[in-house]
Amino acid sequence: MSRNSRVRSGLLRQLENERIAQAPIPPCGDLATPTSVCGRRYRSHYLESRNLINGQWCAADSGRTLAVINPANDQRLAEVPDAGAHEANRAVTAAHEAFAGWSVLPARERGEIVDKLGRLMLDDTEQLAAIMTAQQGKPLSEARGEIAYAASFLSWAAAEAERVYGQIMPAASVDKRILVLRQPMGVAAIVTPWNFPAAMITRKLGPALASGCTVVIKPAEQTPLSALAIGELSLRAGIPAGVVNIVTGEAAPIVDAMLADVRVRRLSFTGSTEIGRKLMAKASENLQRLSLELGGHAPFFVFDDADIEKAAAAAVACNFRNAGQTRICANRFYVQRGVYSAFLDRFRSAVEALNVGVGTDPDVDIGPRINDDAMEKVDRHVADAMECGGTVLTGGARAHTAGAADRFYTPTIIEGMSPKMLLAREETFGPVAAVQRFETEDEAVQLANDSPYGLAAYFFTRDASRLIRVAEALECGVVGANDGAPSTAQAPFGGVKRSGFGREGGHFVMDEYTRIKYVSWGV
Ligand code: SIN
Repeated sequence: MSRNSRVRSGLLRQLENERIAQAPIPPCGDLATPTSVCGRRYRSHYLESRNLINGQWCAADSGRTLAVINPANDQRLAEVPDAGAHEANRAVTAAHEAFAGWSVLPARERGEIVDKLGRLMLDDTEQLAAIMTAQQGKPLSEARGEIAYAASFLSWAAAEAERVYGQIMPAASVDKRILVLRQPMGVAAIVTPWNFPAAMITRKLGPALASGCTVVIKPAEQTPLSALAIGELSLRAGIPAGVVNIVTGEAAPIVDAMLADVRVRRLSFTGSTEIGRKLMAKASENLQRLSLELGGHAPFFVFDDADIEKAAAAAVACNFRNAGQTRICANRFYVQRGVYSAFLDRFRSAVEALNVGVGTDPDVDIGPRINDDAMEKVDRHVADAMECGGTVLTGGARAHTAGAADRFYTPTIIEGMSPKMLLAREETFGPVAAVQRFETEDEAVQLANDSPYGLAAYFFTRDASRLIRVAEALECGVVGANDGAPSTAQAPFGGVKRSGFGREGGHFVMDEYTRIKYVSWGV
């Protein structure tokens, strides 16, 4: 197929999608059911439990489904296809075929379409946030914030589409030039977690699409509805059939099928270090490029010269957002002797002011754990800290909310953290902060780096020289220096050591979805 006919067929598919986008939205029916949370716009696919493959909404070949459960009250929200290898193969075929048309569209056009997807998400913030709170549990205010955060990755990537530059270099002889092209890699597999059901998709989807790749998304089993809603909006934005595909179900068969397929040229995964290792082993067969955003265990230091009001506010936001279910949450707090009591007083009163409850209640700050295993992990970490000599400053127990599931935990601070505690070594993924005193800057750096993980680290100081010394010495990918909320679409996000590799965000992310080709040009 010539380039022009590929572009034409891409445009025809686009026109078809515009037709779908303008089709009337089906009537709502009874909105009093649990499923009403998805609202009118997404209701048809939500109830019909479909995957998006080649622009079509389809069930699993087997007809099997997986239930999506509201973690706050165990209500069944929906059933989504329990798809497997066959559906994944079809999605890869669709993405592979769509690549020919999508990758040759002018970058500006791709960017405009990606930007439109972001704007559609913002327009639908309320419904998308409601979907997120229902399936993931986070408070509605945080869910709205996540939709804005998710859309920002699309608008950032849309603008970057036009800045994927190659180079022309002088060669060693006068009759040659060296031409370096940066081209989209091809089909990208996107495998995302449940803790940020929209933003972890768009952080990968935006740059993949903007650079000219096509994608197959495998969302977490617990939170597929946000992905399906983004899929619907992708059609409404005019993204041609096959460019964005979404396959739901158990992870292993879908992801294994994608990695076994040489047409999949990269995989971007956010999740645990344990799974990341397995994916890396599997990707070795076809040598697919990977970016792995894995577990973290972030330290948070308050130096004697810090602004402790600012540090305490940041500590609360950093540790307790998303009820602690964030990989860059601070888990272990180290406070220098001189400000220990003053900091802890402020930290404690701010933590005690947090409200626990169902995310739809506007006054709630801390929602439920995603499931019972996650709840048991919090119990286990707190019990272990007690056995190892820690003391509970506040919290330390489950919180019982009338009519809700038993997955709520009181925001907790534990003093007397020691290296043998689980809290000091592993992600808790819950609303628990463990605190320990320290004496010197050298000790702080040594404590920070004494971890196999290296995703984020935070510290508060007013000393500019210390700020740069410590920032340079920390073994991690993201440093919050007098900042407890460093995540943003403009900056590269990712880890070192067992927290993975690859960067998402900033202009760096475009490298992840492009490959370099060198043309030796005889003149
Ligand atoms: C994560 O740490 O799980 C992602 C959070 C973020 O992007 O801020």
